[in-house]
This record gives sequence, structure tokens and C-alpha cells, in this order.
Amino acid sequence: MNVSFSKSGAAKSGSALVISASGVDHAYDGAVMKAAAKSASFHGKAGDGFQTYVETGARVFMTGRGDKDIFDYEIAAATVAKSLRGSGETELMIHLEGTDATADDAARAALGARLAAYIWDKHKSKATKSKKPALQSITVVSDDPSAAKDAYENYYGPAGDGVVLARDLVNAPPNEIYPVAYAERIKGLADLGLEIEVLGEAEMNKLGMHALLGVGLGSERDSQLVIMKWNGGKAGDAPACLVGKGVTFDTGGISLKPGANMWDMKGDMGGSAAVVGTMCALATRKAKANVVGIVGLVENMPDGKAQLPGDIVVSMSGQTIEVQNTDAEGRLVLADALHYAVTKYKPAAMIDLATLTGAIIVALGSEYCGMFTPDDELAKQLTAAGDTSTDLPWRLPLSDKYDKLLNSPNADMKNIGGRAAGSITAAQFLKRFVGKDTPWAHLDIAGTGMVNGSKDPRNPTFGTGFGVRLLNRWIADNHEG
Ligand code: BES
Ligand code: MN
Ligand code: ZN
Repeated sequence: MNVSFSKSGAAKSGSALVISASGVDHAYDGAVMKAAAKSASFHGKAGDGFQTYVETGARVFMTGRGDKDIFDYEIAAATVAKSLRGSGETELMIHLEGTDATADDAARAALGARLAAYIWDKHKSKATKSKKPALQSITVVSDDPSAAKDAYENYYGPAGDGVVLARDLVNAPPNEIYPVAYAERIKGLADLGLEIEVLGEAEMNKLGMHALLGVGLGSERDSQLVIMKWNGGKAGDAPACLVGKGVTFDTGGISLKPGANMWDMKGDMGGSAAVVGTMCALATRKAKANVVGIVGLVENMPDGKAQLPGDIVVSMSGQTIEVQNTDAEGRLVLADALHYAVTKYKPAAMIDLATLTGAIIVALGSEYCGMFTPDDELAKQLTAAGDTSTDLPWRLPLSDKYDKLLNSPNADMKNIGGRAAGSITAAQFLKRFVGKDTPWAHLDIAGTGMVNGSKDPRNPTFGTGFGVRLLNRWIADNHEG
């Protein structure tokens, strides 16, 4: 996508989004004002809108400005870009002159349009690819284009790159993104200046990561642990650690899932995709922070060699786990990845992301992800980063009373806590592998990382890239400068 910013201009062809008719009227010889006056239903309120063709040949979308507190330039731009999908339109000009849009709003409008125009057609053959070209260029006209360009190039553009990468990974089929192939893909990010390290099964075996390795036992495909380092901060400063669940396909294992919609489980690596996307964003914008991203990549399959319900595994931490349900596998992967992160990197703070429980979808749908943390300060930071990034977390409780539900008569713990409070017991499980000394938060993105038929105009495909903007913001606000 070609994104540019300018101080003036009129769409000669293609489409234009107009928010203030009086602000752009000189550019269109009064045509927009005239059309607005004629349109009986247009009163400039939020939600009001109409389309008209102007003499330059452009199609103009007029969007009501309405209430200052509710109006969002990013969503307005995304809504128009969404409506252009499949239209064959290749150019969009967004007119913000004469409005109160800040440089930040202008950059976000470009990002919103870009995310709404995202397409996933890599695997459509020539015959079934849309005959019509997709949006190729976005121009934002605003009063301070150089500040807007700055905000886009140094922040929102790289964030968008990260979101797009995360979406591509989640949308990719499981015969394309399986652990080794996924690790290879991540190695390609070394071009951005990231240091990449890959641990295979032999290395993980040596480290005693039998919780993670147990999940992959039934798979023909080797499990991988990938570490991505971005050293943009002061040498020696403790890093922030981002840890992601990367189950490249979750059949449930021997505790097999029902067949209907099982294909959704290609997205069970959404947490890892958010981490990879964030590392890409941080490296692209050369963030002044030390950040380590760690993803556990495993395929969960039923097989003669697969782990069985009732198996007891010894995690890297030494704690033993009775695997009562092989479908509660994400927490087993994260148990070792989190313990590894804490002991190896002694992070200043650590956040994990995972499509961990169906229960979080029941609780929060696709609007908020679940946030679990014993640390009030971290909760505050993430809530604030959510508000500014638009990836929203909602805090849910942790408590010893929930933790007790994991006790097992046969091992140090079992990997399921029963029907009640499923997302919380999953978080309590992770907490046992983090320990007390690391500020830590767990984000359950099962409802937000993959969404079929999202109503959000910025999310046109299954993979949303949820978490990239949140983490990128959290790093910018709390670990830089
Ligand atoms: N990957 C699933 C969670 C999930 C379900 C994500 C639906 C997205 C949509 C996870 O591994 C899982 O299977 N969790 C089980 C846990 C249960 C066995 C304790 C669940 O949520 O049912
Ligand atoms: Mn599962
Ligand atoms: Zn899973």
C-alpha cells in the first residue's frame, strides 16, 4: 500500500472521503457543499453520510462529523475503505483539512484505511482471484502533512506492518505454517535487525521442556522454540519479554475436538503471531527498548505416539503436571516458554498472549481480550495502552481460591481446573511457572485474535493481528526513553 500525506489536493479519479464539506470546497469547486445542501438526510451528524460524484470524476463519500467525543477518524477512514473492497477502486484520498484532526488522527486514518483494505488472496488461483484490482494508494490531505507523515512513518506505519504480518500468519493454512516452516519464516525477520535463535527438539529436551514437548509428541512435525531479540535500548538494561502460544494446529490431541469448525484451530498460533508482528513493528521503527520475543511452536495431533490423558510430565521448572485433557495444551507450551523466559532473561516485565480458552469468548466475545495479572501497575499500563491502541484488554481476577482448583492427587498439578472459571484457572496455571519476582500479565486473545465475520471495518479477515498495536504501544509508553 502506498501511503502519502499532502496539504492540498483533489481526487481526480478514484474515491475521496470528506468530513468537512466547507473545508474542501475550494478543491471541488463547491460541488461537495452543494451536494450536502441537497441531500435531505444529511445533517452532518455522526452516522449521516452520502455519496456523490464530482466533476473531477471522483466519487466522494461524505461522512457526518457529529459528536466530537465519539467521532473517530480511523474508523471513518476504515469504513470507507471497507466499502471500496471489491469495487475495483485503487485510490482513496482522505480529506481532513478544515477539521480538528490532529497529525496523529491523520496518521491513524491512513492506518485504518490500510487495515480495512487488507486482502488475503495468496492462495486464490488466477482463475478465482478477484478480477478487480484492490486499493493501492491512500493519500491523506491535512493541515499539517509533515507531522502526519512523521507520525505514520515512525509509528503507525510500522505498527501496520506488524499487524499485517500477524494477519498473514494467522490466515495461513496449517500445511504452510507448521512449526519448522514458521520458524524459517521468522528467521527472515533478521533482515530488520532482529537477532533470531531457534531451539529444536534436541535442545529443548536438554533443557527439560517436557511440558512443551509432550504436546508435540503426536505430530510428525518437530516442535520449535523461537527467540527474537531487539536490542534498541541501553546495553545491560533488563528486557521486556513477550511470550506467545504458537500451536500451529490444535486438533485437541487424543482429547480430540469435534469436527465442526475445527479449521479455526489453524489460528491457534495467534498469540505467537502477535509477538512476531510486534517484534517486526519494534524493529521497523527502531524502538529504543530491549525486547525479547519468545514463541513456542507446536502442532497438537492425535497419534500412536501422542500424549495420553493421565500422562504426567515434568516441566522445565521441575513442577510435575498431570495432563488430564490433551486439549488444554496451550498452557503446557507456555509453562516451559514462560519459565525459560524468566530464568534466562530476568525480564523487567513479561506479557504472554495466547488463544488459550474457549471460555474467554463466552465471557468477552471479540471486543476485549481477557487480561490476568497480579500486578496493578502492569494492569494500569496495559489498560492505558489498550485505550490508545484500540486493542482493548479487560481485567479478570486471579486468586488462590482459583489456583486450588488445579491441585491433583497424582502430581503437583493437573492441566485443567474444571468447568467453572475456565479462563481464570488457565491463567492460574501459567502463574505457577512465572513465579513471584517478575511483573507479568497474561492476555487471552481466543476471542479477539481470530474472528469470523467481524463487524469492525478494520478486520476484514479471520486473522485480526490483535495484540500487535497493544504491545507496540505498551513498549513505546513504558519501556522507551
Ligand atoms: N485453542 C483452544 C482454545 C480456543 C477455543 C481458542 C476456541 C479459540 C477458539 C485451547 O487449546 C483449548 O482447547 N482450550 C480448551 C481448554 C479446556 C480443555 C480446559 C477449551 O477452551 O475448551
Ligand atoms: Mn486445545
Ligand atoms: Zn489450543
